[in-house]
Amino acid sequence: MRIGIFGSENDPQCLAIAKELRALGADDVLLRYDALEARLPLSVLDGRYLYRGVDVDDLQGAYLKAIPAPYAPTVEKTTGEVLADDWFASYMHSRERASYYVAWLLELQARGARLINAPHAASVLQYKPFQLQALKRVGARIPRTLISNDPDQIRDFKAEVKDVIFKPLMGGAITRKLEGEALDQLERVRNSPVIFQECIDGDDLRVMLAHDTIVSSVAIRTPQQHLDFRDDPAYADGHASYEPVELPAQVQQFCRGAARLCNLAFAGIDIKRTASGEWVFLELNSSPIYLDVEWKLGHRISRAIAELCVGKPVTPPDR
Ligand SMILES: Nc1ncnc2c1ncn2[C@@H]1O[C@H](COP(=O)(O)OP(=O)(O)OP(=O)(O)O)[C@@H](O)[C@H]1O
Ligand SMILES: [Mg+2]
Repeated sequence: MRIGIFGSENDPQCLAIAKELRALGADDVLLRYDALEARLPLSVLDGRYLYRGVDVDDLQGAYLKAIPAPYAPTVEKTTGEVLADDWFASYMHSRERASYYVAWLLELQARGARLINAPHAASVLQYKPFQLQALKRVGARIPRTLISNDPDQIRDFKAEVKDVIFKPLMGGAITRKLEGEALDQLERVRNSPVIFQECIDGDDLRVMLAHDTIVSSVAIRTPQQHLDFRDDPAYADGHASYEPVELPAQVQQFCRGAARLCNLAFAGIDIKRTASGEWVFLELNSSPIYLDVEWKLGHRISRAIAELCVGKPVTPPDR
């Protein structure tokens, strides 16, 4: 059985999954997600997919580390980042390339290949407001939330909730408190809506769910306490530690229910656990980074992904 890995040969997570695929008796095929950008030869000949001249029509599953999206190239100037002179042509090319990849993945899915995760689920899931509603729908607690481009509405929310954080809809920026300069510059929010939330104090938990199996659930410990743990240089340098956490049955059910609503076969779920024992859900990641936990605690997350790709039942973690 051949299984694709849509990623990079330099990505340790892709390599770890490739190794597990081989251990399960499957053949892994690396499909570089920058193949078109790197001008490698890719074709669809009368509906038959050729990757660097090799027929890859028989893939029965694939792990998708990332799906390329259209982007406009920028250059760094003293005034900040600005569009490159030839941005329009580059942007249009990147749109065509993204269309090729997504059509390919949709075609694989239509043929019954197991994609971890399905391209639609992965792209829809970048939209936090939808995810938050899915979490709410299954009964999970989420922080009080306002998504808005209206400074007046935001000031009212702040007056009512008091301790408020803000973060982008699509992710990609550190979570910050709504206070001081941020509050003074609130007019800037008219450019695009931002997520404002009640600040939840507590442990940062990360749960890895493969189908219905919780393969890993840990509290992330960094040397200093930060609002967003990724802001701690120790975390970026790989000095975080992890403590296994037992999830109550109901919390596990919330994880399974939300992942199902969001069509995620595999999900990395972020939860805050408060000192008073509440479990407050923040988001579901469709392609979480997890290798540090796997290496440090021996949680077999790569194996679970490989099992999903080949269609085997996920092995429950050793207790
Ligand atoms: N309401 C909140 N209260 C307290 N801390 C929060 C809150 N929302 C986010 N955080 C902190 O910021 C971190 C990042 O937030 P979140 O997981 O919602 O988005 P993200 O990881 O930036 O999204 P993406 O993965 O798409 O980039 C959380 O893990 C948590 O540490
Ligand atoms: Mg997160």
